[in-house]
Amino acid sequence: MSHPHPSNFHLVHHPLISDLLTTVRDKNTKPPRFRELIRQLGGLLAYESTRDIALTSQPIDTPLEPCNGHRLATNITIVPILRAGLGMADGALQVFTNAQVGHLGMQRDEKTLEPICYYEKFPPDIADHLVMVIDPMLATAGSAIAAIDHLKKRGCQSIRLVNLVAAPAGAKNFADHHPDVPVYIAAMDRQLSDIGYILPGLGDAGDRMFGTL
Ligand code: PRP
Ligand code: URA
Repeated sequence: MSHPHPSNFHLVHHPLISDLLTTVRDKNTKPPRFRELIRQLGGLLAYESTRDIALTSQPIDTPLEPCNGHRLATNITIVPILRAGLGMADGALQVFTNAQVGHLGMQRDEKTLEPICYYEKFPPDIADHLVMVIDPMLATAGSAIAAIDHLKKRGCQSIRLVNLVAAPAGAKNFADHHPDVPVYIAAMDRQLSDIGYILPGLGDAGDRMFGTL
């Protein structure tokens, strides 16, 4: 069942995504398979979330005759939110092979759930790029809001957020702070637990990915 979401949120519908996400949610899925699936989902969501990005014309010569072709109009930077976002980055890079990667380290304080930024490294000209922020989980949205705040301070104007699973309260919080940023998700789950976990969710994505449970 799908739960209501704000107008800047786009629920990506694809049978393969639903199938893979079910295995990711399963508590019996072990880290090697979990990583493989998150990587694959990262690629599928990168593809589905960029159907409308701008193109420019480019004349080329085929072996037979001149032809008007098209190229992506802007450079793309993929920004995984560490740690769990890293798991989606290789999949996204398989789709956008020329993309650059900017890293942003965010850790939720386990008691307050407030995000703490501990690392940042972006391409110097990131402000001119289409920036795709990737993270499997949008729970309270504190991490994603802080990530987009950082990027806007760096002058980025074209930003998209890509998550696997979101919670309704986090989606509303994100939309209240960044209504101009389109968000692409594979699922809108039921609710947040008392301790900030998405229900039914998939557990702690970083811990399941890196075996730190
Ligand atoms: C997880 C997840 C998001 C964040 C979502 O990271 O990968 O970044 O929590 O929660 P929020 O929407 O309430 O901010 P976590 O802080 O657990 O760090 P990790 O990826 O290093 O495990
Ligand atoms: N971070 C996760 O990894 N899982 C959740 O359910 C919430 C935040």
